[in-house]
Amino acid sequence: MSKPQIPSLGRSGLGARALTRRDFLGSTATFATGATLAWMDQAYGQGVPLNCVPPPPNAIPTPFVPVGSLPVRARKSVFELSADEGDRLKAAYDALRRLRVERPEDPRNWLSQGLIHCWYCSGSLDALSGPEIHGGWWFLPWHRAYLYFHERILGDLIDDPSLTLPYWDWDTPDRNRFPDLYMTPNDPSNPLFDTFRAATAADRIPNDPSTGFDLVGPQRMANVLGQVSFDLFGGAGEGASGQLGTLEGAPHGGVHLWVTNPATLVPAQINMGVLGTAAFDPVFYAHHGNIDRLWEVWLASDPTHANPANPEWLGGQFFFYDHARQWTSISVADVVDSQTSLRYRYEPPTTATPVGAVARAEAATGGPRAAPVTLPTERVVELAADDEKPLPPEPTTLRASWPEAAAREAAAAAAEEGARYILRIDGVRVPLDEALMLRVFVNQPDATAETAATGPHFAGSAIILPRTIASARQTGQQSVTNLAFDVTEQLPLVAAEEDEIAVTIVPFRGDGSVPADIPVTYRSVYIATAPRQQ
Ligand code: C2O
Repeated sequence: MSKPQIPSLGRSGLGARALTRRDFLGSTATFATGATLAWMDQAYGQGVPLNCVPPPPNAIPTPFVPVGSLPVRARKSVFELSADEGDRLKAAYDALRRLRVERPEDPRNWLSQGLIHCWYCSGSLDALSGPEIHGGWWFLPWHRAYLYFHERILGDLIDDPSLTLPYWDWDTPDRNRFPDLYMTPNDPSNPLFDTFRAATAADRIPNDPSTGFDLVGPQRMANVLGQVSFDLFGGAGEGASGQLGTLEGAPHGGVHLWVTNPATLVPAQINMGVLGTAAFDPVFYAHHGNIDRLWEVWLASDPTHANPANPEWLGGQFFFYDHARQWTSISVADVVDSQTSLRYRYEPPTTATPVGAVARAEAATGGPRAAPVTLPTERVVELAADDEKPLPPEPTTLRASWPEAAAREAAAAAAEEGARYILRIDGVRVPLDEALMLRVFVNQPDATAETAATGPHFAGSAIILPRTIASARQTGQQSVTNLAFDVTEQLPLVAAEEDEIAVTIVPFRGDGSVPADIPVTYRSVYIATAPRQQ
């Protein structure tokens, strides 16, 4: 099998792929001309993000140093900003957009901000892209650092170091709607407007599991916040070789798609619906504020919830221009304690929701657990051999016999001890310009795109976002994602019912139909044990 073809996905590590000055200088020879800039703006307007390379660095990177003297700033819900706070946010985005016109070479300007996100998500289809920070464990820390620098730049442009980004808490009841501030007025006179949205003020992000289409409802969020390990919650390892986290896969991807196509979600549309263009909609930063907040909520919701102690994760480095145009390196270790290091915290929504969500998460997962669990180590059930095969748009059921009684008893005993059973669907390849949404059921082989996402047989859902709308298929470029679902609750049920385990994978669209014929393939499907950490 050939290696993943997304530039940089196959490379060994973020540290090893640390950006060098030569990469930049070698790739930006034609960048800094007005004509090129105009072309790129237009290309974005047409949804063809190619070669998204931020401006070349002016120096070797300066390591990030926490500014202990900065007051801790409070990020608030976008639905709870005062009129003055809303006005200041608009003024800041206005300044960022004007900087693009007045100083096209400024690495902090609106275009550069959006390009950085594209560059770190397999944009720049010329093998000069940054590392893929989606689909694995870089997802949370990278976006946290990105938001931090974005926020400081915005504050600096309007001379207000206290400025904070708001968060769009789509998980709070009745806030599963597009934030008014970003839509009023709904035209380019509003610096928070984006022309590529389709969601209207009347649309609601689906939150009803009985329809099979729940992106942000209480049950969905309880599942996300109840994940027992960082791997399952936030992702594991790098892009293609790691595994998508539940937070990234389910609410995160769904809200991206919903903004530009609320009716069916797929086919995906620019800007928000496609990772390469997503950061060209200001609402991106409010959406990711909530993702970042939910990381904090997850950590606080259970004493066993913890960030990885893995030095490879903590040592991962990213590069940004700071508010003073200083090319800066920042590591994961620099961002894990956001309050001490980055000097911001989250003001919870004034509703009782965070408490409620946490309580539900605990109820859903059987209360406190003894210790974190590690990545799956031992395969106990093989459902599909490790070779590439098509995943049809109709539901696919894979079957295997469930181990003998003795093995089942051992499994049950291990679960008692805190081990988890993880269903892995590995090597899911999707053309780089397509979105894939799927739901997974255990021993419910008649599940369809309309089957309710409730009940003991529902294992979870995942959404893989397109990276680009460029004609990627012509060059065969695909994203590669590994998926994980905690099926510990499902297995005793299976064991009691029958000797066979059946895993049904259901691709779906928001309207309940099967997705158009997207050429998707996958490799292995198996259930593995994840032992409790000692
Ligand atoms: Cu970098 Cu919401 O994506």
